Amino acid sequence: MYVLGIETSCDETGVAIYHAKRGLINHVLYSQVEMHSEYGGVVPELASRDHIRKLVPLIKQLIQESQLTSADIEGIAYTAGPGLMGALLVGASTARSLAWTWKIPAVAVHHMEGHLLAPMLEENPPAFPFVALLISGGHTLLVQVNQIGEYLLLGESLDDAAGEAFDKTAKLLGLSYPGGPKLSKLAEQGYPQIKFPRPMTDRPGLDFSFSGLKTFALNTINASEKTSQDKADIAAGFQLAVAETLTIKCKRALQKTGLKRLVVAGGVSANSQIRSLLTEMTIKEQAQIYFPRLEFCTDNGAMIAYAGCQRLMLGQQQGLDIFARPRWPISELY
Ligand code: KG4
Ligand code: ZN
Repeated sequence: MYVLGIETSCDETGVAIYHAKRGLINHVLYSQVEMHSEYGGVVPELASRDHIRKLVPLIKQLIQESQLTSADIEGIAYTAGPGLMGALLVGASTARSLAWTWKIPAVAVHHMEGHLLAPMLEENPPAFPFVALLISGGHTLLVQVNQIGEYLLLGESLDDAAGEAFDKTAKLLGLSYPGGPKLSKLAEQGYPQIKFPRPMTDRPGLDFSFSGLKTFALNTINASEKTSQDKADIAAGFQLAVAETLTIKCKRALQKTGLKRLVVAGGVSANSQIRSLLTEMTIKEQAQIYFPRLEFCTDNGAMIAYAGCQRLMLGQQQGLDIFARPRWPISELY
């Protein structure tokens, strides 16, 4: 079964074809980052309009490059939420219309389910059950994954998501949007001599809070001489605090659930310090760790095609209505 996956929840137009037996056939991504960086963040109306311009040509290119025709596609998976309403509607209505025209089923995919299944596209995929840490621009979730669709929420961010905290702190340091990867690069030049707090680690529980780190960064920047070394040191202190906080919570989640497999996905899972601290922790805990390849950490169509293919094979599909949910708690999938 060839499944076309469509991702348009935010500022990347991602499309992919996944085959139930042959695996990932091809994927194409168009990023709007350059367009939004001028405004310091994603402008929802511009995002929707750009998805409209890019989506159909990208699907054509994808099918052609895969040496397939539209007649080969047997199902369509689209991101139905969470995300920006206008952006989601472009993907959902395109997917639904194509499915109707091609007389094939369409299935709505939860964006965070796409992220958490992204390591399944790698050579050594995790077996169920596992703990998943999902760290993106919009969400920070710790989830116990028992099987496809059975997700128990263990913890979440009570305020800013991890990626949001990276982006906001990067902005304070004068870095352009999206600041996460730029802050990480800057941190390489710094020393984490300023000790940032490790929020919510001194009490039991698996929830997160990252907004205080941004405020701490602001106060530290204001109190410094704002030299480039000061900025690099603040970036290093901030990044280490996020990495250690995530590591403490993941260790707790593994111990609490008794599971020995940890999946880390979402845009922030591309961060090398976070990857290395989490990897060290899992070695000590005698657990296995799984990441998506770097290009599938951030938003992409491949993870949506994969998740949709699994759901279609379980016999699930949506009706003719266009399904888009900007807010959609992952726990509601269960
Ligand atoms: O998963 P994603 O592409 O989009 C959402 O679903 O939100 O994640 C984007 C987020 C942004 O906040 C971006 O700054 C962050 O992931 N990010 C990083 C890195 N690469 C992407 N944050 C820290 N270090 C990185 N290397
Ligand atoms: Zn995402």
